[in-house]
Amino acid sequence: MYDETVVAARFWHPFSDMRHDAEIVLDRAAGCRVWDAGGREYIDATAGLWFCNVGHGRAELADAAAAQMRRLAAYHTYGALANRPVLDLADRLASLLPIPDAAIFFTQSGSDAVDTAAKLARRYWQAAGSPERRFIVAREHAYHGMNGFGTSLAGIPANRDGYGRLIEDVVVVPHDDASALAALLDARSPEIAAFIGEPMIGAGGVHPPRDGYWQEVERLCRAHDVLLVADEVVTGFGRVGTWFGAERVGCTPDIVAGAKGVTSGYVPLGFVACGPRIREPFWRGDAGLWRHGYTYSGHATACAVALANVDILEREGLIDRAAALEPAFAQIVGDLGEHPAVREVRSFGLAAAVELRTDVLDGDPTALERLVATIRDEGVLTRAIVGNALQISPPLVIERDELVSVRDRIASALERVFGPGHVAATRSRDEAEAL
Ligand SMILES: Cc1ncc(COP(=O)(O)O)c(C=O)c1O
Repeated sequence: MYDETVVAARFWHPFSDMRHDAEIVLDRAAGCRVWDAGGREYIDATAGLWFCNVGHGRAELADAAAAQMRRLAAYHTYGALANRPVLDLADRLASLLPIPDAAIFFTQSGSDAVDTAAKLARRYWQAAGSPERRFIVAREHAYHGMNGFGTSLAGIPANRDGYGRLIEDVVVVPHDDASALAALLDARSPEIAAFIGEPMIGAGGVHPPRDGYWQEVERLCRAHDVLLVADEVVTGFGRVGTWFGAERVGCTPDIVAGAKGVTSGYVPLGFVACGPRIREPFWRGDAGLWRHGYTYSGHATACAVALANVDILEREGLIDRAAALEPAFAQIVGDLGEHPAVREVRSFGLAAAVELRTDVLDGDPTALERLVATIRDEGVLTRAIVGNALQISPPLVIERDELVSVRDRIASALERVFGPGHVAATRSRDEAEAL
């Protein structure tokens, strides 16, 4: 028998404890501000779920969607069919991607993009006459979405647990240790198809890469002829101050998976890009056609919005803006490390994790969620991410005084939940604004 009072609601929230008592219904948003249905204002400290790079409420994106919907909202792109926005977006992305002469395969989301990238890597090796190269190497703390491959590649054990066998041809290595990868490749490279990683680990706790890590990974992949897949779902489109994270960390991937910032989340869209080597056996025909694709691969309206979004990123110089803001962001958010309940603050580009000390959470498993709720009560939307941390990854248009406000309100919530600290006193608003 089930308890009717527990199962009364209709909407099943993703990744959520359905025992929460009250929903916060969001109603409208503009720039870095969001209002709930009761009219309460919040600063968006996470750009939704790392996606709203150009900020909320851009009429230009709504207009692009409306114009495309009136003309041709959507049609499939299987076989010979295409539409103007998908062709233009493929060209535009190819000009921005860190892969020379890239071609783009469109998906519906980041999870689809990861599954597409993993299938492409394995299918490529079949076509290239090395079907034994089936394993994909992923990293501890990695988040690669929630489809079958992405779940199997998770470096966050809790995300992988509870399903029985999924894809077992996966090896997980430490996230920042190229020598562990070297040892693995020395021992097993003939069965390894690809290495996948986020240039900066995001949802797994914002772990910036060690200096030189990605160059060493690329060197190892080349030496062992293992494909290098960059999951740029979070790091693409300016989050780390470059168009793609691979540029920032100094490597050239064979395959890129992207989503989120490509449309700033105004409509769902993902993609996979690869260079000539990967696509050649398929495009030449000797590998047969690749029986893969989605109903909405190349969705005309989604692609039109993506084009308008890339226009805004370019026209307003938002990638350079993110790079220019990074030192001030790191310093302002870094001030939160002064509170005794905070273990450390890690940041890279305009992404940060404020990690709490485990001993302050010991015996109080609800403290982190209470902190998130208290921060919301202070007027800031953030969320808990893996490793007892708060996510801070605002829209790239955030102003310095808004960042200072985010810091001050989080500091005040830390005091309300864990007792006094000294965060607000470490740097005055004027000093922070002068950064
Ligand atoms: C690095 C990375 N890859 C893939 C995904 C999955 O994207 P989506 O939720 O759009 O399926 C995410 C989502 O947060 C992500 O952070």
